[in-house]
Amino acid sequence: MSAAVITVENQENAAHKLIIQRSPSMLSLQGSIRVPGDKSISHRALMLGAIAEGETQIEGLLLGEDPRSTASCFRLLGAEISELNTEFVRVKGIGLGNFQEPVDVLNAGNSGTTIRLMLGLLASHPGRFFTVTGDDSLRSRPMSRVVKPLQQMTAQIWGRKGNSLAPLAIQGQALKPIHYHSPIASAQVKSCILLAGLNTEGKTTVTEPALSRDHSERMLRAFGAELSIDPETHSVTVMGNAKLYGQKVVVPGDISSAAFWLVAGSIVPGSDLLVENVGVNPTRTGILAALAMMGADIQLENQREVAGEPVADLRVRSSRLKSCTIEGDIIPRLIDEIPILAVAAVFAEGTTIIRDAAELRVKESDRITVMAQQLNQMGAKITELPDGMEIIGGTPLVGTDVDSHTDHRIAMSLAIASLNATGTTTIHRAEAAAISYPNFTNTLVEVCR
Ligand code: S3P
Repeated sequence: MSAAVITVENQENAAHKLIIQRSPSMLSLQGSIRVPGDKSISHRALMLGAIAEGETQIEGLLLGEDPRSTASCFRLLGAEISELNTEFVRVKGIGLGNFQEPVDVLNAGNSGTTIRLMLGLLASHPGRFFTVTGDDSLRSRPMSRVVKPLQQMTAQIWGRKGNSLAPLAIQGQALKPIHYHSPIASAQVKSCILLAGLNTEGKTTVTEPALSRDHSERMLRAFGAELSIDPETHSVTVMGNAKLYGQKVVVPGDISSAAFWLVAGSIVPGSDLLVENVGVNPTRTGILAALAMMGADIQLENQREVAGEPVADLRVRSSRLKSCTIEGDIIPRLIDEIPILAVAAVFAEGTTIIRDAAELRVKESDRITVMAQQLNQMGAKITELPDGMEIIGGTPLVGTDVDSHTDHRIAMSLAIASLNATGTTTIHRAEAAAISYPNFTNTLVEVCR
């Protein structure tokens, strides 16, 4: 007999409710699973493949809606991208500087990475006019963080609210190189400027206040770009007039998706789960460090390097978690995992403080407000801080109706919280999970034994 009753109720417009009722006989989460390909690496593999010369082959691409948005934009820009699948995607690159002027609006859907990274490329392609947009969430997210530095490079970009909101119109230009000191540690900002620097004469440098994920740097080098990195000052310089050549990219499993199982396995007593083939790039492993501080039992097994990225199998066994404080330079290393860390904190002993994470307010939803509201509705004790949360752990959760606010990571975090709640939890707009994890519900059913 299944230890939890998990049903999906389809609604209009592809929306669905995920209903989770934990059975009193539920024992634990068991098994060996794989998570889908890393979202950040998937976007970059498609983009660099599109602007490289020759063919790029991608193994393990994430088939979520976000990379699909990237693929559809770059097809409109002239790249030939084969049908997306996890085994083998072929990208016939058009070569840097060779975008065709798209005959339609480039639609980045829900994906901040797609729109922000693509803006750097579009702005630096002289003689073409582009328009970009996204869904309701993306059209409300700040674009000034990339528009401003691009304007310093002499880019021409127009949009609502002082050119800060999509839809945006871009008249491609030959840009000037700059040294940009970013006020935020953001891989999207860093990557946007570096990509703009590729097709710009001279050296373009980005310095950030703390190190953000470095997948762009690793992959740009693998594709042949000339980069220098100063780890002391968190600075990266790219040489302009670059030439990129198609590569074979192997995308590891996404640690941001694995995070749901690491927390589920930690909080559901008696669990023993193996999550295989997970990317453990040090700029992404803040979740492992935070869970270790909380007393989680997670082992890295079979550590190896695959196509320039470190990979491991992660084994999690349940344990009694205790509270911790998460702040400072670790924040960019776990920024996407804070919703699920909040769930871990709800089941930990003591008061967990999360600070320096105001960025969460401008993600796919305001993840501070939404997580606090939704978990509090289930009985949690979370107080919002301007830049984080204070979470008093140890209060039991009771199933009720909650809502993803169309944010993929909120939908999945609430599903994991419901595994330790009594009664029935109904997660509205749970279809959002498909942005980064199309098979989430199937894996949930598989591991609940
Ligand atoms: C991403 C960078 C992060 C992260 C996002 C993906 C990337 O955003 O939250 O999900 O692929 O570069 P910021 O760099 O803006 O923090």
